[in-house]
Amino acid sequence: MVIRSERLELRELQVADITPAYIGWMSDRETNRYLETRHSAQTPESVAAFVARVAAAPDEFLFGIFLPTGRHIGNIKVGPIRPVHGVADVSLLIGDAACRGQGFGTEAIRAVSAFAFDNLGVSKLSASMYLPNEGSTRAFLRAGFVREGLRVKHYDLDGERCDLVELGATREDMFKQKER
Ligand SMILES: CC(C)(COP(=O)(O)OP(=O)(O)OC[C@H]1O[C@@H](n2cnc3c(N)ncnc32)[C@H](O)[C@@H]1OP(=O)(O)O)[C@@H](O)C(=O)NCCC(=O)NCCS
Repeated sequence: MVIRSERLELRELQVADITPAYIGWMSDRETNRYLETRHSAQTPESVAAFVARVAAAPDEFLFGIFLPTGRHIGNIKVGPIRPVHGVADVSLLIGDAACRGQGFGTEAIRAVSAFAFDNLGVSKLSASMYLPNEGSTRAFLRAGFVREGLRVKHYDLDGERCDLVELGATREDMFKQKER
């Protein structure tokens, strides 16, 4: 499965796509500061097991985010999909630090969301992030998600309680409004 957007190609990730750079992102403090993966060691074996599990899962879709040059700069995931409610989570990382702040995160969120609404039977997408993760919140808001709530002191962040921002989007939120 391949999704193309203006500057990106999102390709369903396979174990063969795993590079030392990708393994490195997962252990990089700047990258994993707000990721749940920081709680366990990220090794070539554990990353391969994760990619293989999701590739085989019928209700989860993990896409590698690639530049037209073929450079792998991050990943974005949709799922698990809950068919009864037509809802799914979206999460992402732009692992290649040189590629952050260029709108790639926003572009990937919009592309994968359109794909989910059109092809996965999803009516509503959700995303959540630690309150201080301003980059993530802004990327989702800019992509067309709206803020729905705040789970107060919900997670532990470096030994302190931390609020969790809850965002959501319907197709109408994202694609039937005027340009933001
Ligand atoms: C969060 C992340 C996905 C954002 O992707 P990105 O491609 O850098 O974001 P974009 O370039 O699309 O930027 C979107 C907006 O966020 C802002 N932004 C990006 N990074 C920021 C940061 N660290 N601090 C504050 N604002 C930031 C941009 O300026 C832009 O703002 P604008 O709408 O006013 O123009 C990326 O920084 C990342 O992967 N971080 C590490 C992993 C992570 O935290 N993932 C999310 C878990 S919920």
